[in-house]
Order: sequence, then C-alpha cells, then structure tokens
Amino acid sequence: MNSAFWISNLTLTNFRSYDHLKLEFDPSPVVITGPNGSGKTNILEAVSLLASGRGLRMARLSEIDKRQKSDSPYNVFGWAINAAVNLGENQTVISTARETSRDNIDKRIIKIDGEIKRNSSALESAFSLIYFVPQMNHIFTEGRRTRLAFLDRLTMLFDYGHPKRLGVYEKYSAERRRLLKENPDEIWLSATESTMAEQAVAIAASRLEALEYIGKALAEFDSRFPRARMEVKGLVEDNFPKMPALQLEEFFKAKLEEARKLDFFSGRTNYGVHRSDFSVVYAENGALAENCSTGEQKALLLSIILGAARAKATWFNAAPVVLLDEIVAHLDDERREELFGQIASLGIQAWMTATHPKFFKNFAGKMQFFSVHDSVIC
Ligand SMILES: Nc1ncnc2c1ncn2[C@@H]1O[C@H](COP(=O)(O)OP(=O)(O)O)[C@@H](O)[C@H]1O
Ligand SMILES: [Mg+2]
Repeated sequence: MNSAFWISNLTLTNFRSYDHLKLEFDPSPVVITGPNGSGKTNILEAVSLLASGRGLRMARLSEIDKRQKSDSPYNVFGWAINAAVNLGENQTVISTARETSRDNIDKRIIKIDGEIKRNSSALESAFSLIYFVPQMNHIFTEGRRTRLAFLDRLTMLFDYGHPKRLGVYEKYSAERRRLLKENPDEIWLSATESTMAEQAVAIAASRLEALEYIGKALAEFDSRFPRARMEVKGLVEDNFPKMPALQLEEFFKAKLEEARKLDFFSGRTNYGVHRSDFSVVYAENGALAENCSTGEQKALLLSIILGAARAKATWFNAAPVVLLDEIVAHLDDERREELFGQIASLGIQAWMTATHPKFFKNFAGKMQFFSVHDSVIC
C-alpha cells in the first residue's frame, strides 16, 4: 500500500467564521456536510493554506481574519492555522498565520516544526496538496492564465522548487520592465535577462516533467473518467526537446534582447514562460476541453487531478491530500462510484463537502463524517 499524506489534527484561530476550532482526524477520507453558508469551504480553505499560495479562494490574507464588531479588542489579531501532517512514520507540524504588524498586512508567517521559514516553498517539501473547487469548473474556457496557474499547481506536486522559481522569474521580469523604462543600462539588462532565461528553462522543464508523470499515470490506469491528453505550448517549452538546456537559455536570452524595444513600447514582457498555454484534449474524441460540455470538462479536470495523485503515489510514495469542494454532488452515479473507488485504492485523505450526506451513505466506517451548522461542528 502506498503512503499518502494525511492530516491528524487541525486548529483554526480567528479564521473566517471560526473563533476557535480544533478537529482530529484519522487517515480515511473526510466528509463535511451542512447547509449553504454553514462553514464547510472555510475549513477546506484553511487546509489549502497549508500549501504555498493564497489558498483556494485566492483571498487577500487580511480578508480571512474573522470579522469582529468594530469595538472588539480582537481586531488586532490575524488568523492562524496549526496542523499536524503525516506521511508514513513522519509527522510534521505546520503553523501559518497572518503577520499583523501594520506595514505587513498581507504577509504570511510559516513555521515548520516550530522553525520559521522565510520561503513558502518550504511548505511544498513538508506537505502535498491539490484541490478542485467550483470556481475551477470554467478553467478551460476562462483563459490562458487560469489554465497555466492550474498547470503550475500540478507542477509543484512534483517539484518543490517550482513556486520559488516562478517568483524569481516574475521578479526579474518586473525588474527588466523597470530598467527598460527608467534606466536601460546594458550590463544590468543583460544580467537580468540571463537570470530570467535560467529560471524560464527550469520552469519549462518542470512543467514538462509533471505532464509526463501525470500522462503516464493516466495511460497506465484504466479509469471510468475520460482520459485527458495534456500539452503545454510556449516559446521555451516548444524548444525544450530540440536543444540542450544551456543552448535553450542562450536562445531565450537572445529573444529577450531582441524584444527590448517591443517590450518597452508595449510595457509588458511579450515572450516567456508566463505566456505559455496549457491545453487539454478529451483523448477519446480529440475535442479540445474548452469545446466539451461542462460535465465533460469537470470530469477531465477530476481525471487530471486523480492522475496527478496517482503519479505522486506511484513514483514518490507520497500521495497528496485532495480537497474536493462541492464536487461530489454534481457527478453522476457511475463517476461518483469511480471517484470513491480511486480514493480508496490510492488510500488518500480526500476532503469532500456536500450539502447532504446521502451521497456517502454506503461509506459509514470507511470515511469520517463531520456535520457543520453555523460554524459549529457536530
Ligand atoms: N472573514 C470572515 N469573518 C467572519 N465570517 C466570515 C468571513 N468570511 C466568510 N465568513 C462567513 O462564513 C460563512 C460560511 O462560509 P462557507 O464556509 O463558505 O460556507 P459553506 O461552504 O458551508 O457554504 C458565511 O456565512 C460567511 O459569511
Ligand atoms: Mg462552500
């Protein structure tokens, strides 16, 4: 049996609708049911903040603080999450909170086993997580950036350094735009472009590798979910198989140099890995995901997420926790059965929410049930 990450306890303080909440879990799937607005997604959001980034709602960190009456003394406190995550024999305690000093209103503090980490990619090496929330239903039709962000989340599962590299690439792109505008010094520009090129090639390599893992997991496993054929297209990715890495860096660096004038006039970076496109095809009929029905798009997305979980389980012995917010109710019976079957065979701690427990009625004893009303758990 493969190892899978699981959360054994979770404490929320001053988090959204919860003043204080402490929950304990075993490794089995977690089911949270309750009416709309009862506080289900808030719990999943907290779990999603155990990974780097801004959580499944992409909220501003200060928005997450529990709203207090304006005269309450508690206003000065930011939210905090504390969790114990487990893999095999290892347990890691992750704490994260909003920095509340005035000039730092959107900064997150991260502690792993009591030690403050400066870089949030420390989270990726301690814990592994992937989520599917209703806002992602339209990922294929919404546009390139949303799809690329999803691909980058998948990539993080396989490469802990990926988020940090994306951050460095973004920082140097902004620096290059500033230099072009204010101080087009050749030496600085060239050094900045070298760093961008170095990061870009590593970013492209990680994305391609992640897709290879997921593609392989999907190809090797017979599933009732539609098979997805995935591709990432972009200047750097397209040339990756054609040149050795160093040559590709030089190639992209030359492209950046060539585009200085264009980038100066347009005020943006016209070439690079931030402009790549992640495309998904419904393998059986060759249709692009964006042209599939909404039901098929959801099934494709779930298929990719399960493929990623399977790949991490198979080749890294570390299946991620999978958060599925309001997903189960919208699947037909056959796909729901397939989903539960795969969750069980992978041994993953999937966190599933629904307004009604009826979908899970055959799983008493195999899943752990929590029912929530007005942010009180019973
Ligand atoms: N920062 C906040 N402070 C206090 N309450 C909040 C905050 N953010 C959201 N809420 C409240 O949390 C409640 C539960 O939200 P949610 O978890 O999304 O419900 P569910 O997923 O069960 O439908 C909502 O009533 C919402 O108003
Ligand atoms: Mg919800």
